[in-house]
Amino acid sequence: MKKLGILVSGRGSNMTAILDACEKGYLHARVEVVISSNSKAKAFAKAEERKINRICFDERIHNLDATICEYLSLHEIDLVLLAGFMKKIGPKMLSVFEGSILNIHPSLLPKYGGQGLYGINVHKAVIEAGEKKSGATVHLVNEHYDKGKILAQKSVIVDEDDTPETLAKKVLKIEHVLYVETVKKIIEGKITL
Ligand code: GRF
Repeated sequence: MKKLGILVSGRGSNMTAILDACEKGYLHARVEVVISSNSKAKAFAKAEERKINRICFDERIHNLDATICEYLSLHEIDLVLLAGFMKKIGPKMLSVFEGSILNIHPSLLPKYGGQGLYGINVHKAVIEAGEKKSGATVHLVNEHYDKGKILAQKSVIVDEDDTPETLAKKVLKIEHVLYVETVKKIIEGKITL
């Protein structure tokens, strides 16, 4: 049984999709810890409701990287899943958990990734560029925003009357499926990190 650590800062819908898949036995894994960079995050409250080990670190502390790393190591985490985590992953985490940190991004990377391209900004940029399709990407995390090895993607059609908000909804729906499926393939050895 793989031990997962999920890092969140916001709503937590991807975290919930992973939790549900573990609870149903669809993923042979257990969410051991949820770490939030924001005590007011909905995700943090959801983790509490579901009685998951959780901790919130003030994102302003200077040694956030080492603190998170220590907490994940203590819980012997096999796979770290970023799910709307708004802080950059530091060098300590990257070296200790090398090749074991995943992120989900709401575009077809390498398009529409990088600093500043998060949340609704991504979908605004996609629509402004007149793209006919968009989607979501699960990738490994490295020192550059959204630049790690792409592990899996799923696309959606951008309709003419889509707004950034309607597109965000469509993409979020496939994110939940894509994240769970990708983690499943990793656990089953069908994707090697
Ligand atoms: C998702 O769109 C994800 O792709 C991005 O942040 C958002 C998090 O949403 N990295 P949620 O907190 O999982 O609902």
